[in-house]
Amino acid sequence: MNRFVFVLVLSGVLSCGTEGTPSALRTRGQAACATPASSETVRIMEGLKPHCEGCHAQGARGYFASTESFQALLVSDVRLVKPGSPDDSELLRLLEGRGTGAFKQMPIGQKSYAQLVTEGTATLPVADVRAWIQGLAAQQRDSRPDPDAPRISRLTAVQVQRALYQQLGLRHEDFFISANEFGLPMAESRGDDFYPLQPPDALPMPRQAATGERYHALGGGSVVNQVTQDRTASPTFALTLTQVSQRWCRRALAMTENTALFPAGTTRSANPVDVKATLRRWSLHFLGERFTDAQVDALYQDVFVPLATPTDTEPAYVGACSYFIRHPHWIFY
Ligand code: HEC
Repeated sequence: MNRFVFVLVLSGVLSCGTEGTPSALRTRGQAACATPASSETVRIMEGLKPHCEGCHAQGARGYFASTESFQALLVSDVRLVKPGSPDDSELLRLLEGRGTGAFKQMPIGQKSYAQLVTEGTATLPVADVRAWIQGLAAQQRDSRPDPDAPRISRLTAVQVQRALYQQLGLRHEDFFISANEFGLPMAESRGDDFYPLQPPDALPMPRQAATGERYHALGGGSVVNQVTQDRTASPTFALTLTQVSQRWCRRALAMTENTALFPAGTTRSANPVDVKATLRRWSLHFLGERFTDAQVDALYQDVFVPLATPTDTEPAYVGACSYFIRHPHWIFY
């Protein structure tokens, strides 16, 4: 194989791989890796469509939303269409009223598709669907998520607050005392040095402006202040989350009775074995993921060690704690 061919093959593998795909390739779009719909596939889709799209135009079974949906959700799903084997294809069985799953036939209702053809309501013969499946080559499905699909959400400001209260063992009372203004309950800040956070629309509402501003900086919206929610990962969001996570982690670690980060039986020390056990536990605690030994070693070397001094591990533990809170898997779901 000459080098040119090898490079072509390699780039093909890379652009269609499920893991380690460079982002530049990833943005090229879906169609490059999946088998495109053939003209016969489009003809079959158009023939079935009038009898199906009413119930299958959106969601996980939105087969008829577009040619791409038909191809990706139906044609390249071997559970529904098995190339070369019409009788092993649930799609065909459903059209003929011989479905093996929850439904015996499609469309659901009185008549199966085959019966609709017989009585002349549907025009595409079932035999055409059978022949199409018979002649279909193996289909490749692109398992990568569509980068344009709105599937990934950033935590809202309120979710940030609630998640941190829970994961760091902090409570409303750690930041606020009760106050009253004109008979309305207010959250009086214990000091802005604690970086308090409270939505202006919440009860009790924040008495100090800085508290609400911090909430808005995290993208929180408010009817009272006429600010719309911002779910983008803006620079202001990143900066504010960094400050809040570091401050709140430090606070949580300073509370001796707080067991959220160091439950009974765990050891907080400078001993690498203890530190790595903590980092592993925190990966589960914050991200719901079990870090591998290699990930834990990297985190220890890159984040913990540079921040630790022989006498004080506090900044290093704060750094590691806030590392998890700034992790993309913490911020996005
Ligand atoms: C009146 C509504 C309706 C119509 C019309 C309809 N379907 Fe469905 N279809 C459903 C429902 C409901 C389900 C089950 C959805 C679920 O389980 O979430 C379903 C499921 C399916 C499935 C998945 C079956 C499985 O075992 O996973 C296929 C394939 C399907 N329909 C194809 C079609 C085709 C092709 C047509 C047109 C010939 C059609 N449907 C017309 C309502 C409809």
